[in-house]
Amino acid sequence: MNLAVIGSGGREHAICYKLKQSPKIKKLICIPGNAGTEKIAENIKEDISDFDALYKIIKKQNVDIVIIGPELPLVKGLVDYLSEKKVRVFGPDKFASQLEGSKAFMKNLCKKNNIPTANYGVFNNFDDASNFIKKHGVPIVVKADGLAAGKGVSVCKSIEEALKNTKEILNGKFKSSNQVVIEEFLEGEELSYFVIVDKNSCLFFGSAQDHKRVGEGDTGPNTGGMGAYSPPPLLTAQLENKINKKIIKPTLKFMKDLGHPYKGFLYAGLMIKNGEPYLIEYNIRMGDPECQVLMMRLNTDLLEIIDLATKDKLGNLKIKWSNKNSITIVLCAKGYPSNYIKNSEIKNLFNISSDENNQIFHAGTYLKNNKTYSIGGRVLNVTSSSESLVKARNNSLKNITKINWADGFFRKDIGWRVINDK
Ligand code: AMP
Ligand code: GLY
Repeated sequence: MNLAVIGSGGREHAICYKLKQSPKIKKLICIPGNAGTEKIAENIKEDISDFDALYKIIKKQNVDIVIIGPELPLVKGLVDYLSEKKVRVFGPDKFASQLEGSKAFMKNLCKKNNIPTANYGVFNNFDDASNFIKKHGVPIVVKADGLAAGKGVSVCKSIEEALKNTKEILNGKFKSSNQVVIEEFLEGEELSYFVIVDKNSCLFFGSAQDHKRVGEGDTGPNTGGMGAYSPPPLLTAQLENKINKKIIKPTLKFMKDLGHPYKGFLYAGLMIKNGEPYLIEYNIRMGDPECQVLMMRLNTDLLEIIDLATKDKLGNLKIKWSNKNSITIVLCAKGYPSNYIKNSEIKNLFNISSDENNQIFHAGTYLKNNKTYSIGGRVLNVTSSSESLVKARNNSLKNITKINWADGFFRKDIGWRVINDK
């Protein structure tokens, strides 16, 4: 089969890596891809918000299935557009994508279905928002309603900070929406929980813990994710039952009842407090960097899974996972998550040996004259698997030191919650 993966991050490289292992793969295309995908797939440069241009490529390359990695084309309706043209595509439609595309939509769904989540208010004007903030006190969380490339959420420790962020969002700082969602601060431990969904079934698709803050000890500003590990010991069978019963199932039923059955990967960002799950957010895609560790542990043919899902035949497929512990450490460009260095050469990258336990997934990289350069904030995902998480982390750290890149930085403490407990 011919598959096309849309996106250019570590998530998409990890998906390509896994698809490439399938005996059924004939041609693998990544649009636009990065230096890592270029080694295992055919990269085709295109603006992924230009749907007509994407369709032309898909037709020309005889693509059988399209997998959409990032949220933006999903929220903009790429699934609806391609489905209308009879292209087989994996991902939720535009309506269902509101689960991530509008925090107000997601919170409203929680309210209607008694899904545990932080208490909140949605506001269009400053006075009402300000009254809510003053009534609830701090800490309080201020969120842009629409997509904001990971920059729309601030956990505010003072009323002034909360009011300032609220005003900026209401004044249109984020183009996707002028509404603001203000919510109670939840304490606890975060967990990323994934399912794969078709019209008839919903199957577990792994779980991981991510480190969102830029600095060691979980300090500094939020990022897209500095590293992740899987499986997380936090996820017990009892907790998983609660997540499904209280959060996932009512959500899928609600979407179905609205006439938009959810299809694709669904990522529940959860806060776990005293063994109880609370929904912080939904994402309508795989997590990045969570996908990188999950693809290292996936023991079932990904192409077969996606093929069945797009035919609504997931049924009782047994998706198998390795018991190994996987970890990924994100190598970032200095300055990230603010202004960071770009177009800096990374040396020695392709000399580092890789095997089923050690992979470097690329994110913000490109090749020029056979040399690798950085282009994004999160640049490489140095990923390892082992019987123990400590060993996996040591292997990732060892591989990072082999990369010759003075303009990069990373966190040495990914997995600290679990590793310190031992
Ligand atoms: P979101 O984009 O909604 O996932 O928020 C980004 C990050 O902000 C989350 O991963 C949490 O670390 C933090 N966060 C968001 N909402 C809350 C909340 N209500 N309580 C505590 N932390 C939160
Ligand atoms: N790792 C966080 C995200 O993918 O949104």
